[in-house]
Amino acid sequence: MPFSSDDIPNPRQSVFRERREDAINSYLQRTPTIYRGSIHIHPASDDWSRRREDAPASLFLTGAIGVGKTHTAWQASRQWLATTVDRTGNMPSIETWRSTALFDALRPDNRDYDAKALTRILQNADLLYVDDLAAARVSPTGWTQERLYEIFDERYINRRPVLITCDVFPNQISHIVGDRVASRLSEMCRDGVLLLEGDDRRVSGVAA
Ligand SMILES: Nc1ncnc2c1ncn2[C@@H]1O[C@H](COP(=O)(O)OP(=O)(O)O)[C@@H](O)[C@H]1O
Ligand SMILES: [Mg+2]
Repeated sequence: MPFSSDDIPNPRQSVFRERREDAINSYLQRTPTIYRGSIHIHPASDDWSRRREDAPASLFLTGAIGVGKTHTAWQASRQWLATTVDRTGNMPSIETWRSTALFDALRPDNRDYDAKALTRILQNADLLYVDDLAAARVSPTGWTQERLYEIFDERYINRRPVLITCDVFPNQISHIVGDRVASRLSEMCRDGVLLLEGDDRRVSGVAA
């Protein structure tokens, strides 16, 4: 079949494509190995990741242990990254944290992180992905909850998106993140709470 001019990417498209590949490759390098494979994800999370017109800005993935929340979130965040580079030509910043590591990093006595500097990074990242938000056995103390409030309030007022996985609903996390964060998260994710259903894939052997 002969080539038409539509088949030849214009220089802008080529540059964006190259940037997208670079972005995905560097994101894959900081993705834990088991989450690197490409998987099919729930259509609503696919819509979110491709930033479709009616899709919510933030996504709250919930469901029982083992239904695929974390795998879905990594796949969706990769697609979100690709979509964003395609649209803007810019490499968005994505902060990915397990809740337990995040709460620990934000503690006032943590020597590895400057909590104030980290707070600013998490306020301003283009996407903040927090995995397993309700996982912490010990809830953050007042000081750490205050940092969480600063992070989520700043994102809330600037409409910056979050991607959360959690085995309970947003209205059941106040005891972990505090009332003010829970309230903001509920609003940010109002149209973006997605319940993944099914058996524990680790136990049932329906794993990817
Ligand atoms: N879309 C999928 N297709 C096939 N297997 C999947 C999919 N999502 C997750 N899995 C498998 O299910 C298991 C649990 O996934 P995970 O994301 O860790 O669950 P959760 O975070 O809900 O506890 C893993 O073994 C994973 O390989
Ligand atoms: Mg998980």
